[in-house]
Amino acid sequence: MQSFKTPITPEMHYDDWALSYDSDMKGWDYLAPGRVADSLRGFMVDRTSALRCLDVGIGTGLLSEELHRIRSDLEIFGVDISARMLALCRRKGRFRKLRRVDVGRDRLPFPDESFDIVASSGVMESVGGIGHAIGEMARVLKPGGMMVFTYVPGTGHPLGNAQTRALRPGRTTDGRFVMGPMTLHAHNPLKVRTYAALSGVKPLPPVRFTGYRTYVVVTVDYELFVGQKRL
Ligand SMILES: C[S@@+](CC[C@H](N)C(=O)[O-])C[C@H]1O[C@@H](n2cnc3c(N)ncnc32)[C@H](O)[C@@H]1O
Repeated sequence: MQSFKTPITPEMHYDDWALSYDSDMKGWDYLAPGRVADSLRGFMVDRTSALRCLDVGIGTGLLSEELHRIRSDLEIFGVDISARMLALCRRKGRFRKLRRVDVGRDRLPFPDESFDIVASSGVMESVGGIGHAIGEMARVLKPGGMMVFTYVPGTGHPLGNAQTRALRPGRTTDGRFVMGPMTLHAHNPLKVRTYAALSGVKPLPPVRFTGYRTYVVVTVDYELFVGQKRL
């Protein structure tokens, strides 16, 4: 089994994982994309006009594929830190502009108020700068638009996050991917809601669910943030 002496970055982690990501996720009961899509179903179905969506940390496009099941005409843009995940996503040929961006640090490459929906699944635990990310996601969201993302709730202190320590490096003997010792960030729910409110997004009641179970019996519990930008 491969081992890593130093923690790997999210970019290294997902570049390495990209090729088997879709098939691994099928075996992990990965519920996050479906839960994010379900929370947007009513909003998407109620509106008859064209809708534009930004998928933050789009990866190979699993969340966007769920959103397209609800509305096939949804115009989807995506950003991600991993060039290899984006390359695989691009190959699916279903999405508009796909850009390489670190959402914890970079300005999103879109004008203010460009999207009806800004959605993200399975990403924020890789992102240290969630306040920056929420501010940028809110900036590009239209008034009345929906912001939905999953995150791992916690105190925000790295040692308080057992999941970080439980992760194991490398691949199983049959070649399946197992997470490396990447720092995962749990985020304080009160802070998440405060960042959103300060960015003009009104939080709705949160929902907790088990996001996935990995091959090495790591269970990741998520909180789903759902908010609407004030008119
Ligand atoms: C677990 S995957 C989720 C992908 C997709 N949203 C899904 O639900 O299948 C996490 C994704 O977030 C991306 N990511 C991690 N940190 C990021 C960051 N700081 N900025 C942008 N993307 C990031 C990774 O490259 C990866 O594609």
